[in-house]
Amino acid sequence: MTATALPGHPHIAYRDGELCMEGVRLSALAKTHGTPLFVYSKASMLAALAAYQRGLAGRKVQICYAMKANSNLAILQIFAQAGCGFDIVSGGELARVLAAGGDPRKVIFSGVGKTRSEMQQALKLGIACFNVESQAELEVLNEVALALNTQAPVSLRVNPNVDPQTHPYISTGLKGNKFGVAHEHALETFQRAAALPGLRVVGIDCHIGSQITQESPYLDAMDRVLDLVAQVEAAGIAISHIDFGGGLGINYKGETPPPADHLWFALLSKLDARGFGERQLMIEPGRSLVGNAGVCLTEVLYLKPGEQKNFCIIDAAMNDLPRPAMYQAFHDIAPLKPRSGQSTLMDVVGPVCESGDWIGRDRDLHVQAGDTLAVLSAGAYCMSMASNYNTRGRAAEVLVDGEKSHLIRERESAADTFQGEHLLG
Ligand code: LLP
Repeated sequence: MTATALPGHPHIAYRDGELCMEGVRLSALAKTHGTPLFVYSKASMLAALAAYQRGLAGRKVQICYAMKANSNLAILQIFAQAGCGFDIVSGGELARVLAAGGDPRKVIFSGVGKTRSEMQQALKLGIACFNVESQAELEVLNEVALALNTQAPVSLRVNPNVDPQTHPYISTGLKGNKFGVAHEHALETFQRAAALPGLRVVGIDCHIGSQITQESPYLDAMDRVLDLVAQVEAAGIAISHIDFGGGLGINYKGETPPPADHLWFALLSKLDARGFGERQLMIEPGRSLVGNAGVCLTEVLYLKPGEQKNFCIIDAAMNDLPRPAMYQAFHDIAPLKPRSGQSTLMDVVGPVCESGDWIGRDRDLHVQAGDTLAVLSAGAYCMSMASNYNTRGRAAEVLVDGEKSHLIRERESAADTFQGEHLLG
């Protein structure tokens, strides 16, 4: 038996001419569950987590998986059982923590627009910390906590004004972004928080962006955050934890982000050199824990040769895989059973009625109608951003664990998509 792992995807390999994930043939899953189908490798997720755990070994650290990347309950369960807390951005995500058996005391609540009822829900469950993003939010959180006769643990998200060198839509730490408190207003905002009786200052956090593939923006952000910690503590406000935000970028198209343990070696050296090595640390990785663990299987419906372009029309669309339409993102596409012979340049597109509904442009493929393709690096920000546009039910999800596979989400039916709607009269 010959096996060739796909570069950057150690748990996905061609074995005897067939694409497999761990010990399972992907074509068998497509046959059993239909397409489009998301399939995730448990081993790949745990290996990605282990790289962070290695890099942070011996430190006081809580890894909080940013579930916005992929919030399927079974995936949350895997991370909860591996000791992770969760970074959440809504009351809905908090409900998922509970449904998956996660510990609310390991939850941090991020986001610029928390509602009063979300704050109440989180306070009652005793979450670890609210990552507050504005002075106005501080005032409301204070009121909500006082009304419940409690104190809210607060970290202030500061905006370090560092360029993460990533797509503008997923860059969050620059001055023009809606996120965080500007570096120059951080001290006064910490002072305000410390003065409010319903709040207890516990930390500082930052998040400069997503899909970052270089070390330097992290190191620069750490410097800026540590400057602030020193400044705030000199003003008499203790900061017990430092949260460095989201995780690394992944390989979509040959990018080579540093391995998480290497990055953390560099970051911890700086932390130690500046005398902060003993602090409680938090990180909120999402994409890097799940992105390359997942694929989306899709069937080729039609080939449509054209004068200017050839189209390969598949049964997955922008409602299943929104990243190309939203960010012009690249996802590699691999046939489950490669054919020998001449390949053709084609655009891979979905059935949705929008020209923006493309999944891959100018791909060199040798395929026929009825073939199944795997859209790679589809574990993060695909299913969690999927919609019902064109009344398309969302795809099913399967988790592979060694030789076994588990259906972890049913395919939505048409009736599911309009459940809750009402006819008149
Ligand atoms: N923490 C905060 C406060 C965040 O805003 C994010 C992501 C994370 C953690 C997780 O970052 P990660 O480790 O995944 O880079 N939909 C976009 C990505 C949006 C990211 C938003 N924030 C995409 O598909 O590329």
